[in-house]
Amino acid sequence: MKAIVYNKKQSPYKQILQEVEKPIPNDDEVLLKVFSASINAADYRSMKMGMIPKKKIFGSAVSGIVDSVGKNIQLFKAGDEVIADLTDFGFGGLAEFVVTREKALTHKPANTSFEDTATLPVAATTALKALRDKVKIKEGQNVLIVGSSGGVGPFAIQIAKYYGANVTAVCSTNNLEQAISLGASEVIDYTKSDFIKTKNRYDLIVAINGNYPLLGYKRILSPNGVYIMVGGTLTQIFKSILFGWLLSFGGKKMKILSGKTDPENLDYVAKLLENGEIRAVIGKRYSLDNAVEAFNYLGKGHAQGKVIINIHKKNEIVEPKYA
Ligand SMILES: NC(=O)c1ccc[n+]([C@@H]2O[C@H](COP(=O)([O-])OP(=O)(O)OC[C@H]3O[C@@H](n4cnc5c(N)ncnc54)[C@H](OP(=O)(O)O)[C@@H]3O)[C@@H](O)[C@H]2O)c1
Repeated sequence: MKAIVYNKKQSPYKQILQEVEKPIPNDDEVLLKVFSASINAADYRSMKMGMIPKKKIFGSAVSGIVDSVGKNIQLFKAGDEVIADLTDFGFGGLAEFVVTREKALTHKPANTSFEDTATLPVAATTALKALRDKVKIKEGQNVLIVGSSGGVGPFAIQIAKYYGANVTAVCSTNNLEQAISLGASEVIDYTKSDFIKTKNRYDLIVAINGNYPLLGYKRILSPNGVYIMVGGTLTQIFKSILFGWLLSFGGKKMKILSGKTDPENLDYVAKLLENGEIRAVIGKRYSLDNAVEAFNYLGKGHAQGKVIINIHKKNEIVEPKYA
Protein backbone atom coordinates (compact mmCIF):
# COMPACT_ATOMS: atom_id res chain seq x y z
CA MET A 1 0.00 0.00 0.00
CA LYS A 2 1.01 3.64 -0.33
CA ALA A 3 1.92 5.65 2.77
CA ILE A 4 3.66 8.87 3.74
CA VAL A 5 6.73 7.66 5.58
CA TYR A 6 9.07 9.66 7.82
CA ASN A 7 12.69 9.66 6.75
CA LYS A 8 14.95 12.20 8.42
CA LYS A 9 17.26 12.27 5.39
CA GLN A 10 14.42 13.21 3.04
CA SER A 11 14.81 16.84 1.99
CA PRO A 12 13.10 19.25 2.53
CA TYR A 13 10.19 17.87 4.61
CA LYS A 14 11.51 14.58 6.05
CA GLN A 15 8.66 12.51 4.64
CA ILE A 16 8.15 10.63 1.38
CA LEU A 17 5.37 8.74 -0.41
CA GLN A 18 6.40 5.10 -0.38
CA GLU A 19 5.12 1.56 -0.92
CA VAL A 20 4.98 -0.27 2.41
CA GLU A 21 3.43 -3.55 3.52
CA LYS A 22 -0.29 -3.46 4.11
CA PRO A 23 -0.83 -4.12 7.84
CA ILE A 24 -2.60 -7.27 9.05
CA PRO A 25 -4.87 -6.87 12.10
CA ASN A 26 -4.25 -9.12 15.10
CA ASP A 27 -7.14 -10.54 17.17
CA ASP A 28 -7.68 -7.20 18.95
CA GLU A 29 -7.31 -4.92 15.96
CA VAL A 30 -9.40 -3.41 13.20
CA LEU A 31 -8.04 -2.88 9.67
CA LEU A 32 -9.32 0.41 8.34
CA LYS A 33 -9.32 1.53 4.73
CA VAL A 34 -8.62 5.24 5.04
CA PHE A 35 -10.78 7.55 2.94
CA SER A 36 -9.83 10.97 4.36
CA ALA A 37 -7.33 12.15 6.94
CA SER A 38 -6.78 15.57 8.45
CA ILE A 39 -3.44 16.66 9.79
CA ASN A 40 -2.99 18.43 13.08
CA ALA A 41 -0.43 20.54 14.87
CA ALA A 42 0.34 17.35 16.84
CA ASP A 43 1.64 15.73 13.64
CA TYR A 44 4.05 18.45 12.57
CA ARG A 45 5.06 19.37 16.14
CA SER A 46 5.84 15.74 17.02
CA MET A 47 7.92 15.47 13.86
CA LYS A 48 9.81 18.69 14.66
CA MET A 49 10.49 17.47 18.18
CA GLY A 50 11.74 14.08 16.93
CA MET A 51 8.77 12.16 18.38
CA ILE A 52 8.29 9.71 15.53
CA PRO A 53 5.56 7.02 15.50
CA LYS A 54 6.90 3.45 15.60
CA LYS A 55 5.74 2.75 12.05
CA LYS A 56 7.09 6.16 10.96
CA ILE A 57 3.71 7.15 9.56
CA PHE A 58 1.99 10.25 10.97
CA GLY A 59 -1.73 11.02 10.82
CA SER A 60 -4.09 10.61 13.76
CA ALA A 61 -7.43 11.92 12.49
CA VAL A 62 -9.08 9.73 9.86
CA SER A 63 -12.34 8.43 8.50
CA GLY A 64 -12.87 5.34 6.39
CA ILE A 65 -14.40 1.90 6.09
CA VAL A 66 -13.61 -1.15 8.19
CA ASP A 67 -11.86 -3.63 5.91
CA SER A 68 -11.57 -6.55 8.33
CA VAL A 69 -11.55 -7.18 12.07
CA GLY A 70 -9.69 -9.44 14.50
CA LYS A 71 -11.67 -12.18 16.22
CA ASN A 72 -12.02 -10.30 19.53
CA ILE A 73 -13.59 -7.22 17.95
CA GLN A 74 -17.20 -6.79 19.11
CA LEU A 75 -18.44 -3.36 18.10
CA PHE A 76 -17.36 -3.08 14.45
CA LYS A 77 -17.52 -5.28 11.36
CA ALA A 78 -16.22 -5.15 7.79
CA GLY A 79 -18.06 -2.48 5.79
CA ASP A 80 -18.79 -0.14 8.73
CA GLU A 81 -18.12 3.53 8.05
CA VAL A 82 -16.07 4.91 10.93
CA ILE A 83 -14.11 7.87 12.29
CA ALA A 84 -10.87 7.26 14.20
CA ASP A 85 -8.59 9.16 16.53
CA LEU A 86 -5.28 7.30 16.31
CA THR A 87 -3.37 9.61 18.66
CA ASP A 88 -3.03 7.08 21.48
CA PHE A 89 -2.68 4.11 19.14
CA GLY A 90 0.50 4.81 17.17
CA PHE A 91 -0.78 7.25 14.50
CA GLY A 92 -0.37 5.74 10.97
CA GLY A 93 -3.34 7.46 9.28
CA LEU A 94 -1.48 8.87 6.28
CA ALA A 95 -1.69 5.57 4.47
CA GLU A 96 -4.15 3.59 2.40
CA PHE A 97 -4.79 1.27 5.34
CA VAL A 98 -4.14 1.41 9.06
CA VAL A 99 -4.67 -1.08 11.89
CA THR A 100 -5.98 0.25 15.15
CA ARG A 101 -7.90 -0.61 18.29
CA GLU A 102 -11.64 -0.57 18.77
CA LYS A 103 -11.18 2.23 21.34
CA ALA A 104 -9.97 4.59 18.60
CA LEU A 105 -13.19 4.28 16.61
CA THR A 106 -16.70 5.58 16.47
CA HIS A 107 -19.38 5.02 13.82
CA LYS A 108 -19.65 7.70 11.15
CA PRO A 109 -23.17 9.13 10.87
CA ALA A 110 -24.69 8.13 7.52
CA ASN A 111 -25.50 11.66 6.37
CA THR A 112 -21.97 13.00 6.89
CA SER A 113 -19.04 12.91 4.47
CA PHE A 114 -15.67 11.24 4.97
CA GLU A 115 -13.93 14.60 4.51
CA ASP A 116 -16.04 16.39 7.10
CA THR A 117 -15.78 13.63 9.68
CA ALA A 118 -11.99 13.40 9.25
CA THR A 119 -11.78 16.97 10.62
CA LEU A 120 -13.32 15.94 13.96
CA PRO A 121 -10.74 13.80 15.80
CA VAL A 122 -8.25 15.95 17.77
CA ALA A 123 -9.58 19.35 16.58
CA ALA A 124 -13.30 19.21 17.45
CA THR A 125 -12.77 16.86 20.40
CA THR A 126 -10.17 19.25 21.81
CA ALA A 127 -12.57 22.19 21.58
CA LEU A 128 -15.28 20.07 23.25
CA LYS A 129 -12.98 18.91 26.06
CA ALA A 130 -11.76 22.44 26.73
CA LEU A 131 -15.20 24.07 26.81
CA ARG A 132 -17.55 21.43 28.16
CA ASP A 133 -15.28 19.45 30.47
CA LYS A 134 -12.40 21.64 31.55
CA VAL A 135 -14.02 25.07 31.96
CA LYS A 136 -17.65 23.91 32.14
CA ILE A 137 -19.05 26.54 29.81
CA LYS A 138 -22.48 28.00 30.68
CA GLU A 139 -25.19 29.73 28.74
CA GLY A 140 -24.77 33.52 28.54
CA GLN A 141 -21.05 33.55 29.35
CA ASN A 142 -18.72 35.84 27.44
CA VAL A 143 -16.00 33.75 25.81
CA LEU A 144 -12.84 35.01 24.14
CA ILE A 145 -11.33 32.57 21.65
CA VAL A 146 -7.77 33.44 20.67
CA GLY A 147 -6.61 31.69 17.51
CA SER A 148 -10.10 31.18 16.17
CA SER A 149 -9.33 30.37 12.55
CA GLY A 150 -7.16 27.22 12.28
CA GLY A 151 -7.99 23.60 13.09
CA VAL A 152 -9.35 23.90 16.63
CA GLY A 153 -10.62 27.51 16.62
CA PRO A 154 -13.63 27.16 14.27
CA PHE A 155 -14.91 24.24 16.34
CA ALA A 156 -14.35 26.22 19.54
CA ILE A 157 -16.50 29.09 18.22
CA GLN A 158 -19.30 26.74 17.17
CA ILE A 159 -19.26 24.61 20.31
CA ALA A 160 -19.26 27.72 22.53
CA LYS A 161 -22.27 29.00 20.55
CA TYR A 162 -23.93 25.59 20.86
CA TYR A 163 -23.72 25.95 24.66
CA GLY A 164 -25.29 29.42 24.45
CA ALA A 165 -22.21 31.59 25.04
CA ASN A 166 -21.41 34.97 23.45
CA VAL A 167 -18.23 34.56 21.45
CA THR A 168 -15.51 37.08 20.69
CA ALA A 169 -13.02 35.65 18.21
CA VAL A 170 -9.41 36.78 17.80
CA CYS A 171 -7.78 36.20 14.41
CA SER A 172 -6.06 38.05 11.58
CA THR A 173 -7.81 40.20 8.95
CA ASN A 174 -8.34 37.41 6.40
CA ASN A 175 -10.28 35.29 8.88
CA LEU A 176 -12.68 37.82 10.43
CA GLU A 177 -15.56 36.96 8.10
CA GLN A 178 -15.10 33.23 8.70
CA ALA A 179 -15.38 33.77 12.47
CA ILE A 180 -18.61 35.75 12.07
CA SER A 181 -20.06 33.13 9.73
CA LEU A 182 -19.39 30.49 12.41
CA GLY A 183 -21.26 32.44 15.07
CA ALA A 184 -18.86 34.92 16.70
CA SER A 185 -20.74 38.07 17.71
CA GLU A 186 -17.52 40.12 18.02
CA VAL A 187 -14.22 39.77 16.20
CA ILE A 188 -10.84 41.29 17.00
CA ASP A 189 -8.11 41.55 14.39
CA TYR A 190 -4.92 40.85 16.36
CA THR A 191 -2.84 42.45 13.60
CA LYS A 192 -4.58 45.78 14.18
CA SER A 193 -5.47 45.97 17.86
CA ASP A 194 -3.99 44.68 21.08
CA PHE A 195 -6.92 42.75 22.61
CA ILE A 196 -4.98 42.28 25.86
CA LYS A 197 -5.53 46.00 26.50
CA THR A 198 -9.30 45.85 26.02
CA LYS A 199 -11.67 47.25 28.66
CA ASN A 200 -13.95 44.23 28.13
CA ARG A 201 -13.92 41.31 30.56
CA TYR A 202 -14.43 37.65 29.71
CA ASP A 203 -15.81 34.76 31.76
CA LEU A 204 -13.77 32.28 29.73
CA ILE A 205 -10.65 32.70 27.62
CA VAL A 206 -9.63 29.85 25.33
CA ALA A 207 -6.03 30.38 24.17
CA ILE A 208 -5.57 28.25 21.08
CA ASN A 209 -2.81 30.06 19.26
CA GLY A 210 -0.31 32.88 19.47
CA ASN A 211 1.83 34.00 22.37
CA TYR A 212 0.38 36.65 24.68
CA PRO A 213 1.26 37.73 28.26
CA LEU A 214 -0.37 35.61 30.96
CA LEU A 215 -0.80 38.63 33.22
CA GLY A 216 -2.65 40.37 30.39
CA TYR A 217 -4.94 37.38 29.99
CA LYS A 218 -5.58 37.37 33.74
CA ARG A 219 -6.39 41.09 33.71
CA ILE A 220 -9.13 40.72 31.09
CA LEU A 221 -10.82 37.82 32.94
CA SER A 222 -13.99 38.65 34.87
CA PRO A 223 -13.68 38.19 38.69
CA ASN A 224 -14.31 34.41 38.64
CA GLY A 225 -13.20 33.93 35.07
CA VAL A 226 -11.21 30.98 33.73
CA TYR A 227 -8.38 30.97 31.20
CA ILE A 228 -7.58 27.70 29.49
CA MET A 229 -4.50 27.16 27.40
CA VAL A 230 -5.17 24.73 24.57
CA GLY A 231 -2.09 25.52 22.50
CA GLY A 232 -0.03 28.27 20.95
CA THR A 233 3.66 28.88 20.45
CA LEU A 234 5.95 26.73 22.57
CA THR A 235 6.72 29.83 24.68
CA GLN A 236 3.01 30.30 25.43
CA ILE A 237 2.72 26.64 26.39
CA PHE A 238 5.77 26.70 28.71
CA LYS A 239 4.66 29.99 30.32
CA SER A 240 1.21 28.51 31.04
CA ILE A 241 2.67 25.29 32.47
CA LEU A 242 5.23 27.11 34.66
CA PHE A 243 3.22 30.09 35.89
CA GLY A 244 -0.48 29.25 35.32
CA TRP A 245 -0.89 27.66 38.77
CA LEU A 246 0.84 30.61 40.43
CA LEU A 247 -1.59 33.04 38.85
CA SER A 248 -4.58 30.92 39.91
CA PHE A 249 -4.69 32.16 43.50
CA GLY A 250 -7.90 34.10 44.10
CA GLY A 251 -11.06 33.92 42.01
CA LYS A 252 -9.51 33.78 38.54
CA LYS A 253 -8.18 30.44 37.32
CA MET A 254 -5.51 29.66 34.71
CA LYS A 255 -5.76 26.09 33.39
CA ILE A 256 -4.05 23.87 30.83
CA LEU A 257 -5.77 21.35 28.59
CA SER A 258 -4.34 17.91 28.17
CA GLY A 259 -6.26 14.76 27.55
CA LYS A 260 -6.54 11.30 26.14
CA THR A 261 -8.45 10.00 23.18
CA ASP A 262 -12.07 9.32 24.06
CA PRO A 263 -14.41 7.69 21.53
CA GLU A 264 -17.41 9.10 23.43
CA ASN A 265 -16.25 12.65 22.73
CA LEU A 266 -15.69 11.74 19.08
CA ASP A 267 -19.19 10.32 18.94
CA TYR A 268 -20.56 13.48 20.57
CA VAL A 269 -19.02 15.85 18.00
CA ALA A 270 -20.03 13.50 15.16
CA LYS A 271 -23.64 13.85 16.35
CA LEU A 272 -23.29 17.65 16.47
CA LEU A 273 -22.09 17.50 12.86
CA GLU A 274 -24.89 15.13 11.87
CA ASN A 275 -27.49 17.46 13.41
CA GLY A 276 -26.04 20.57 11.77
CA GLU A 277 -25.02 22.12 15.11
CA ILE A 278 -21.44 22.41 13.86
CA ARG A 279 -19.88 22.29 10.43
CA ALA A 280 -16.42 21.39 9.21
CA VAL A 281 -14.28 24.22 7.84
CA ILE A 282 -11.90 22.78 5.27
CA GLY A 283 -9.27 25.23 4.06
CA LYS A 284 -7.20 23.01 1.77
CA ARG A 285 -7.35 19.54 0.26
CA TYR A 286 -4.45 17.37 -0.85
CA SER A 287 -4.08 13.83 -2.19
CA LEU A 288 -1.84 11.26 -0.54
CA ASP A 289 0.68 11.87 -3.35
CA ASN A 290 1.25 15.45 -2.24
CA ALA A 291 0.48 15.14 1.48
CA VAL A 292 4.04 16.18 2.31
CA GLU A 293 3.16 19.64 0.95
CA ALA A 294 0.25 19.76 3.36
CA PHE A 295 2.68 19.49 6.29
CA ASN A 296 4.64 22.40 4.91
CA TYR A 297 1.46 24.50 4.66
CA LEU A 298 0.25 23.62 8.17
CA GLY A 299 3.70 24.08 9.67
CA LYS A 300 3.73 27.74 8.67
CA GLY A 301 1.15 28.34 11.42
CA HIS A 302 -1.52 30.19 9.44
CA ALA A 303 -3.70 27.43 8.02
CA GLN A 304 -7.30 28.49 7.52
CA GLY A 305 -9.58 25.73 8.80
CA LYS A 306 -8.61 22.09 8.51
CA VAL A 307 -6.19 20.55 6.04
CA ILE A 308 -7.54 17.36 4.46
CA ILE A 309 -5.73 14.52 2.71
CA ASN A 310 -8.06 12.50 0.51
CA ILE A 311 -6.88 8.92 0.10
CA HIS A 312 -9.71 6.69 -1.16
CA LYS A 313 -13.10 7.50 -2.62
CA LYS A 314 -16.34 5.63 -1.98
CA ASN A 315 -17.09 2.82 -4.48
CA GLU A 316 -13.48 2.89 -5.59
CA ILE A 317 -12.00 -0.53 -6.38
CA VAL A 318 -8.72 -1.08 -4.59
CA GLU A 319 -6.08 -2.56 -6.86
CA PRO A 320 -5.60 -6.28 -6.08
CA LYS A 321 -1.84 -5.72 -5.77
CA TYR A 322 -2.48 -4.30 -2.31
CA ALA A 323 -4.58 -7.27 -1.20
N1 LIG B 1 -4.11 20.51 24.42
C1 LIG B 1 -4.53 19.66 23.51
O1 LIG B 1 -5.06 18.57 23.82
C2 LIG B 1 -4.43 20.08 22.06
C3 LIG B 1 -5.13 19.38 21.07
C4 LIG B 1 -5.09 19.86 19.76
C5 LIG B 1 -4.31 20.97 19.47
N2 LIG B 1 -3.59 21.58 20.44
C6 LIG B 1 -2.75 22.75 20.15
O2 LIG B 1 -3.62 23.81 19.78
C7 LIG B 1 -2.91 24.70 18.94
C8 LIG B 1 -3.75 25.06 17.76
O3 LIG B 1 -4.05 23.91 16.99
P1 LIG B 1 -4.69 24.12 15.56
O4 LIG B 1 -4.92 22.76 14.99
O5 LIG B 1 -5.81 25.06 15.63
O6 LIG B 1 -3.44 24.80 14.83
P2 LIG B 1 -3.38 25.46 13.39
O7 LIG B 1 -4.49 24.97 12.54
O8 LIG B 1 -1.99 25.29 12.91
O9 LIG B 1 -3.62 27.01 13.72
C9 LIG B 1 -3.48 27.91 12.68
C10 LIG B 1 -4.22 29.17 13.05
O10 LIG B 1 -3.56 29.85 14.12
C11 LIG B 1 -3.80 31.23 13.96
N3 LIG B 1 -2.75 32.07 14.55
C12 LIG B 1 -1.45 32.07 14.23
N4 LIG B 1 -0.81 33.01 14.97
C13 LIG B 1 -1.73 33.60 15.75
C14 LIG B 1 -1.71 34.64 16.71
N5 LIG B 1 -0.57 35.27 17.04
N6 LIG B 1 -2.86 34.99 17.34
C15 LIG B 1 -4.02 34.38 17.03
N7 LIG B 1 -4.12 33.39 16.12
C16 LIG B 1 -2.99 33.01 15.48
C17 LIG B 1 -3.81 31.42 12.47
O11 LIG B 1 -4.72 32.46 12.19
P3 LIG B 1 -4.26 33.74 11.37
O12 LIG B 1 -3.80 33.25 10.03
O13 LIG B 1 -5.51 34.53 11.35
O14 LIG B 1 -3.12 34.33 12.15
C18 LIG B 1 -4.27 30.09 11.88
O15 LIG B 1 -5.60 30.15 11.37
C19 LIG B 1 -1.59 24.03 18.61
O16 LIG B 1 -0.59 24.60 19.44
C20 LIG B 1 -1.80 22.59 19.00
O17 LIG B 1 -0.61 21.96 19.38
C21 LIG B 1 -3.64 21.16 21.72
